[in-house]
Amino acid sequence: MLRALVAGVCFLGLAAAAAGAPAGPETEAAKKARMKWWTEARFGMFIHWGLYALPARHEWVKSRERLSDEDYDRYFARFDPDLYDPLAWVRTAKSTGMKYIVVTTKHHDGFCLWDSSLTDYKATRTPYGKDLIRPLVEAARAEGLRVGFYHSLLDWHHPSYTVDRNHPMRDDKDFVDKAAARDIGEYAEYLHGQVRELLTRYGRIDTLFMDYSFPGPGGKGRNEWRSDELLKMVRELQPGIIVNDRLDLLDVPGGWDYRTPEQFMPRAWVKVDGRPVPWETCQTFSGSWGYDRDESTWKSARQLIAMLIETVSKGGNLLLNVGPTGRGTFDDRSLDRLRGIGSWMELHARSIYACTQAPAEFPKPAGCLMTYDPEAGRLYVHVLEWPLGTLELDGFAGHVDYAQLLHDASEVRFTEKGGPTGFMPGSREPGAENTLTLRLPVRKPDVEIPVVELFLKKR
Ligand code: GLC
Repeated sequence: MLRALVAGVCFLGLAAAAAGAPAGPETEAAKKARMKWWTEARFGMFIHWGLYALPARHEWVKSRERLSDEDYDRYFARFDPDLYDPLAWVRTAKSTGMKYIVVTTKHHDGFCLWDSSLTDYKATRTPYGKDLIRPLVEAARAEGLRVGFYHSLLDWHHPSYTVDRNHPMRDDKDFVDKAAARDIGEYAEYLHGQVRELLTRYGRIDTLFMDYSFPGPGGKGRNEWRSDELLKMVRELQPGIIVNDRLDLLDVPGGWDYRTPEQFMPRAWVKVDGRPVPWETCQTFSGSWGYDRDESTWKSARQLIAMLIETVSKGGNLLLNVGPTGRGTFDDRSLDRLRGIGSWMELHARSIYACTQAPAEFPKPAGCLMTYDPEAGRLYVHVLEWPLGTLELDGFAGHVDYAQLLHDASEVRFTEKGGPTGFMPGSREPGAENTLTLRLPVRKPDVEIPVVELFLKKR
């Protein structure tokens, strides 16, 4: 009877979670279930695309260079990405090992990539003349990738958007004086209306990345965006959706689903009030999100692979950005990095998907990163600096059943508990009691970052 009751309650709980019913605050278990696919996916593609691909000198160009609407209009008049092939983008994301894409529907410049009914400042009014979002969403679905929208809260084009400390016209006294009469409430209506369009016209949307709040003097936050109301609508329209943390609702229960450290690697699993939370770091190849022709600080494929591993080793997701060109292509530098990551992922994906931080009893060996698949009971030692012949894993003795190199499933033999590691005249070099010593080939395997897969003993 009790069991039936418990089962009933669990079933109701699951049903509520599946329907996303916000009957009271969501339980931690329900949130976990809602975010399961995302947590297991670990790796997504961010796409920053818009008019700023034409100036090709950062997506903030309008603000940085204090460009007026008229100045910036030249890009609207020339926007014609004739080589845009959404299926090719999605296939590239997929072959890189990414499980979801997040595309800018509108960035801070206010330009809309979809055919919004609420503005003419959109792709369908440029020389290109077509909705850019729909075919991308369709391509992603066809290839089995999840779809997220990035949507800018800021809008440097809307006539009711008040001039703040980032606004392109902030230094133009006449403009500022005239704009003093603007009513941000009108802009909030527009913002809510557009988010409604995005969440009702394209079927299921898996994630939403709202960007961003900067409350305080000269800034904007939850009051200006009417964030509470906006988020309520979002969750009503798309009950399963996963929403980021930039609506300025950090202190509101259910006000965010995951934290978003941007362009840096957190020291450890991101915590809120001392507790680890879901997190996703968004990162660029080179510092700019939009296509930037002359930017030269590009990370190597190896650095990016290490970044992915490190993120997962701390329980997070990586959202890696591509800024397509004004022709609608991924440039060679991007393709080169994506291919590099993809060929590593082809052989090592199982050390990434559904993996997380290793249990504390397995300390990270020097020169390595570790990920852990709790379901499979496997530990992955990512060897960043290939050692000479042996790798000592302190604290691992007695826990490992079998070890192999992940890329070719070749056995890695090991000794344990102070077993001999090498000859010294008169004696042998002893290992420590709790150390497991892996016997690695002297030559580093021919993969960017080799991984040793440890099958843990069943406990
Ligand atoms: C920042 C920037 C923006 C970029 C975003 C990505 O908020 O304003 O240009 O889109 O981060 O997370």
